[in-house]
Amino acid sequence: MNLRRLRQKESLRGLVAETSIRPENLVQPVFAVNGRGIIKKIESMPQVFRYSPDKLPKEVEEIQKSGVGAVLIFGVPQERDETGRVATSGRNPTVAAIKILRKKFPQLAIIADVCLCSYTKHGHCGILKKVEHNVPVFDEKKTLRTLAEVAQIYAEAGADIVAPSAMMDHQVGAIRSNLDKNGLNEVAIMSYSAKYASGFYGPFREAAESSPRFGDRRGYQLPPPNIREALREIETDISEGADIVMVKPALSYLDVIAAARSKFYHPIAAFNVSGEYSMVKAAAGRGWLDEKRCAQEILLSIRRAGADIIITYWARNFARWLEEENLL
Ligand code: PBG
Ligand code: ZN
Repeated sequence: MNLRRLRQKESLRGLVAETSIRPENLVQPVFAVNGRGIIKKIESMPQVFRYSPDKLPKEVEEIQKSGVGAVLIFGVPQERDETGRVATSGRNPTVAAIKILRKKFPQLAIIADVCLCSYTKHGHCGILKKVEHNVPVFDEKKTLRTLAEVAQIYAEAGADIVAPSAMMDHQVGAIRSNLDKNGLNEVAIMSYSAKYASGFYGPFREAAESSPRFGDRRGYQLPPPNIREALREIETDISEGADIVMVKPALSYLDVIAAARSKFYHPIAAFNVSGEYSMVKAAAGRGWLDEKRCAQEILLSIRRAGADIIITYWARNFARWLEEENLL
């Protein structure tokens, strides 16, 4: 085999590499809480923490230094109610986080997750009209209005991109028209377009305290057997004005990423979700896997499938490893 000549020498492997992972394409999720002096562990996600606004800049400085392309902020409030009122109030920790980061890092790309599940008592992603046989029925008008208002608040605080993750029909259109109406035309939308009802969100729900108190999210997130349905969701979001579309989770849905890549021309983001991170961390902690090698293979697989942007809890550390160890 001729190819052997190109594989045997380390000096030639980079030359013929078909895909690569650049720090600029990675997004680091960060969890923001209210208060002071807080850096709080998340048991199920080793090396991921929740920060109060005063502690966040130091961490984000490291993220920025590593060359990572953006941060994605998730707020974890202390108060919750039926309609998620805290989300549109001055007590929303996401707002405090955006403001301090915008002030300290004018060049930082800031993305803010827009959803209600961390802000509602019931833990579902919208405002409920009623519950039928343990299934949430949403008040569509109120939900869209609130999501649009939340996105506006994040944009006004200084976010460059808002990222609706509620999987509510027409959320992208509602957010886009409200942003435009308020002179926020420059703010982009990254939509969680193809978000599957997945078991891999488990550790995140501990981090964001966003587990539904009853029922589950199968009514509004995508069914794992379906790919055409995911492509229709992406198509709809693009028609409503999404600038970036996302597939989530990444690993069990690489085929969805690849299909979206060949069908659409928008930037595609993939969310390498909490469970995909934690399972490697857990195995590596027992000496069963080599974390760096496995993280690299995972991120490469997502790039090969066709994602432009990867949201991953490894972002900052991976960028460091790239620098220090010449991983490829
Ligand atoms: C909530 C939201 C979830 C994630 C991002 N936004 C979880 C869910 O739908 O339960 C998952 C992120 C992860 O698992 O890393 N809208
Ligand atoms: Zn949600």
